[in-house]
Amino acid sequence: MSSAHIDAAPGQIADTVLLPGDPLRARFVAQALLADPQQVTARRNMLGFTGTWNGRPVSVMGGGMGIPSTAIYVTELARSYGVRRIIRIGTCGGLGDVAMGEVLLAQSGSTDSRFNRMQFGGHDLAASADFGLLRAAVDSAAEQDLAVRVANVFSTDCFYGGDPQVLDHLRRHHIIGVEMETAGLYGLAMREGFRALAILTVSDLFATGESMPAAEREQGLIRMAKLALACTEPG
Ligand code: HPA
Repeated sequence: MSSAHIDAAPGQIADTVLLPGDPLRARFVAQALLADPQQVTARRNMLGFTGTWNGRPVSVMGGGMGIPSTAIYVTELARSYGVRRIIRIGTCGGLGDVAMGEVLLAQSGSTDSRFNRMQFGGHDLAASADFGLLRAAVDSAAEQDLAVRVANVFSTDCFYGGDPQVLDHLRRHHIIGVEMETAGLYGLAMREGFRALAILTVSDLFATGESMPAAEREQGLIRMAKLALACTEPG
């Protein structure tokens, strides 16, 4: 049996899933880094793959853009496939003194979305990373000689428009990355009981309007995926 939005048979998805937004990036990561990657789902072209890494099964699946899309896939991965660890690998806009290409490890996700409030009695949830995964990512990055920064990020529902003051608020609260999924992923992880982390490469700078070229985005994706895989190593 599959779930409403995922075709895979039970057992075809590993208990660790790397989650880029774009399904073609999921395919790229699976083919570049996993041994024997098999496509396990393609409903609505939201591709997912399972292979092995260092002999252990790992899946890579697209989650789409924004909290609602991500939440559908993540909820089904957790509830229908028993996934225990989800590591988002994505991009974000950078604020303040962040540099293009910097890798952020999101320790918290603030948001303008009502998604977590709707499940939390209207109160504000401190949507947070799993500490064990965050620590493993910090340690693995040091081993890989990869500079990373533990950061607070903001997940917005509005890629275009939204609150014109928001960047001022973010700067004031030392939030340095803006993307569209992390707060929802972390809220779901807290409710559903799986472990989550978002690893984000800065691909746009608000200060200058500069954007990262496509080839560098690809390198950034592989860098993040290698870090994500390393922090799933046992022990
Ligand atoms: N805003 C929202 N999401 C993003 C951005 C951004 O500037 N850059 C990459 N993902």
